[in-house]
Amino acid sequence: MAANTIELNRRRHNFEGVESIWLFGYGSLIYKVDFPFLEQRPASIDGWVRRFWQGSHDHRGTPEAPGRVVTLIRKSGAVCKGMAYRVSPAVFEHLDHREKNGYLRLSVRLTFDDGSQSDGLVYIATEDNEAFLGAAADVDIARQIARAVGPSGPNSEYLFRLADSLRRLGDHCSHTFAIESCLQSIGKNDI
Ligand code: BEZ
Repeated sequence: MAANTIELNRRRHNFEGVESIWLFGYGSLIYKVDFPFLEQRPASIDGWVRRFWQGSHDHRGTPEAPGRVVTLIRKSGAVCKGMAYRVSPAVFEHLDHREKNGYLRLSVRLTFDDGSQSDGLVYIATEDNEAFLGAAADVDIARQIARAVGPSGPNSEYLFRLADSLRRLGDHCSHTFAIESCLQSIGKNDI
């Protein structure tokens, strides 16, 4: 699948007659809210884990030295915590462009913290996209993040902001926190 997913996403959902939709954020959408929303609620989705397995050459890295950003990977029994936003369909024009590097909109069932549920959408970079990097040791992911800088800033800033946001949400994402701790102990000479 091509890395640029703008056109693919435009054809995926018919928003005709739809006033608002829940959008689930598990990465930068938790802390970089550059879109209007009608309502915001902490939520989770079942059967997915957050992983720094997607390459970023347009935001947190470059084509020559891609950074690493999060996507979701299916895992039975797992729960991924994040933030849900009720948005108007127009918001997806902006987000499809912002998250064009391999992310497709998928339908998911959201569970809010009070146990109530709703259908929603989530952006996921699947393994068949050109920018997908896949698994690596925590320390190697941290080294790659320590080196990478892109138009949106240092990749390390992305990691640290996400880790802080997850702590505020009360999520213990062991994958994110392990990479954060490797990154904190990496000296300039180690990268
Ligand atoms: C998110 O925070 O949900 C998100 C992360 C990466 C790309 C698109 C969305």
